[in-house]
Amino acid sequence: MTESGRSHLTRRRFTGMALAMGSALPAWLSAAEPPAPSPPAHPAITGPESLRAHAAARGVLYGAAVNPALLDVEGLAGTGTTDGYTQLVGAQAGILVAENAMKWAGLRPTADTFDFSLGDRLLRFASLAGQRVRGHNLCWHEGLPAWFKTTATKDNARELLIQHIQTVAGHFRGQLHSWDVVNEAIEPQDGRGDSLRKSPWLELIGPEYVEMAFQTAAQADPAAKLTYNDYGIELDTAEQTAKRGQVLLLLRRMKARSVPIHAVGVQSHLQADGPQPGEGLKSFIREAAQLGLEVYVTEMDVNTHSLDGGPDAQDAAVARVYRDYLGMVLAEPNVPMALTWGITSAHSWLNASTQPWALRPDGARQRPLLFDDDLRPTPAFFAVRAAIDAAHPAAPLPEPSPVPAIDPGNLYKPFPVPGSPTAQPQAARPGTGR
Ligand code: XIL
Repeated sequence: MTESGRSHLTRRRFTGMALAMGSALPAWLSAAEPPAPSPPAHPAITGPESLRAHAAARGVLYGAAVNPALLDVEGLAGTGTTDGYTQLVGAQAGILVAENAMKWAGLRPTADTFDFSLGDRLLRFASLAGQRVRGHNLCWHEGLPAWFKTTATKDNARELLIQHIQTVAGHFRGQLHSWDVVNEAIEPQDGRGDSLRKSPWLELIGPEYVEMAFQTAAQADPAAKLTYNDYGIELDTAEQTAKRGQVLLLLRRMKARSVPIHAVGVQSHLQADGPQPGEGLKSFIREAAQLGLEVYVTEMDVNTHSLDGGPDAQDAAVARVYRDYLGMVLAEPNVPMALTWGITSAHSWLNASTQPWALRPDGARQRPLLFDDDLRPTPAFFAVRAAIDAAHPAAPLPEPSPVPAIDPGNLYKPFPVPGSPTAQPQAARPGTGR
């Protein structure tokens, strides 16, 4: 974009914000021949006008995924930081999560060693900035170190998983708000009756790896809220409705078997164009409440790879999605927290990826988050703040209703899922032994 294009956009955006905030237009914007303007000051967005302060006023949490290596912890601990990104993260987020640093590949350089330096850096930063931290994640089919493939076997996988969770959750014991214990374990398209994804963990341990992970995490860190986290369960499309139903079955199965689980994470990687979340997700959140579970928005961003138009069009569509989505989910009393996957487009995985689902045909960068590449707030920032202001104040969860008893002969017999087509278990696939 040219410099004149940039100042034009900045001016238009500022005008829109000034109007939205009900303030009078500055003289230089309304005069026919304005004097060369000095850049307008941003509306207040820090201190009491920050997302974390607005969220705290409603008893909810706003947070973001970060790379701890990019945070100026030393500055913050010393005379103060002059780094804009660090200031932004400290000012806006009430809770942080490591985008990659606390995954297996981030913590396990070799099969015999653990490297907690980046995780500890995140905890240190958060404690200086008065923020909570959530852990992500203890068990996932991705984010595994290269040595895993050649080291993990059916004979040692249980021990490997249990030892990892004991060591990692034990290391951070008592310090975390929550842990994503198991990430993305459901994939109906893999064709199993229980809809479990054919992940290395499933192949090496069997379906019981999910419960094993939660039981181990509960022992290692009894204070953290143990979370099952997944994606592709937000929309009312046939595919996502089916997957959401299968996630609910997993949660019910776990509750029926007294597995320690406290929350479900809805990743919320949404698209700026196409269908948006609606009634199906709302009833899922209410079903979760009936099971005594909180629901967290864990990884929200808004992908604009297929949205026509320039930066203004992206910004408007992205802000609408944040407004409508967070408006809907934060109205539910068992949704006390929303995190975005990053905070500025400068560090968004959507701008780092070369996948077709991330690249725009015009080659432009995506603007999926609340701040842009230059750390300026996008319209999405104001949309999120307004949605937070309208959030239902956090309320105690209802007493869980009794979970239907499970036929001990068939742990994976599906329960009927109100509001979604009853998912039928698929027949065992010949030759797979399942
Ligand atoms: C992504 C990170 O953002 C990338 O930097 C990394 O290369 C791959 O993982 N669902 C998750 C996150 O649960 O851990 C993923 O994070 C994004 C999708």
